[in-house]
Amino acid sequence: MKKVVVGITGASGSIYAKTLIDELLKHEIHTHVIFTETGKKVMEYETESLVDSWIESLEKNFRHFTLEDNNNLFSGVASGSYSFDAAIILPCSMGTLAEISQGLAKNLLCRVADVAMKENRKLVIVPRETPLNAIHLENMLKLSRLGVSILPAMPGFYHRPTSMEDLIDFVVGKIFDHIGIENNLFDRWGN
Ligand SMILES: Cc1cc2nc3c(=O)[nH]c(=O)nc-3n(C[C@H](O)[C@H](O)[C@H](O)COP(=O)(O)O)c2cc1C
Repeated sequence: MKKVVVGITGASGSIYAKTLIDELLKHEIHTHVIFTETGKKVMEYETESLVDSWIESLEKNFRHFTLEDNNNLFSGVASGSYSFDAAIILPCSMGTLAEISQGLAKNLLCRVADVAMKENRKLVIVPRETPLNAIHLENMLKLSRLGVSILPAMPGFYHRPTSMEDLIDFVVGKIFDHIGIENNLFDRWGN
């Protein structure tokens, strides 16, 4: 696992993406990050912090971090010839889910999802909405049948979490398991 693309949309729960990105960088994985316009706004609202300063510190501290522009379809990651290993959309709004399930690739984030599917690379979608209507469910089913991992941000409680970090680490650990990165982010049943 060398290169991963993370897409952050305007669904609730971008706090998960912060931990995911920190962990990917710790694992020396080249991490490309794409925000939708609303994704950036919702992250700032929910984490009560400025995305730009966080990005600046990542750019300063990690050479293997790249911020992508969602409008830049000339980016390397927009092409199947750029061999990223996996793409993760976290959190994924129902709007972006619908675009991906329809094969729309009008922005870089949706194009990356489209490329991952056409190149048979790992694509993990972490949808976030509740309750789910039939359109949401049908879109997820369609993508699941195409080999996409639909991994809702639904932390388990069997490991007896005591903090928000425990809940977040559980979801990030499950994503790592799905893209084949060894991790000890959560206590496994039976250990
Ligand atoms: C604070 C906030 C939380 C939101 N949470 C969700 C959510 O959990 N799931 C969802 O599908 N949309 C949610 N939305 C609505 C999306 O942001 C909206 O549909 C947007 O158009 C998604 O665009 P994007 O997919 O390009 O980011 C939320 C909006 C706001 C302002």
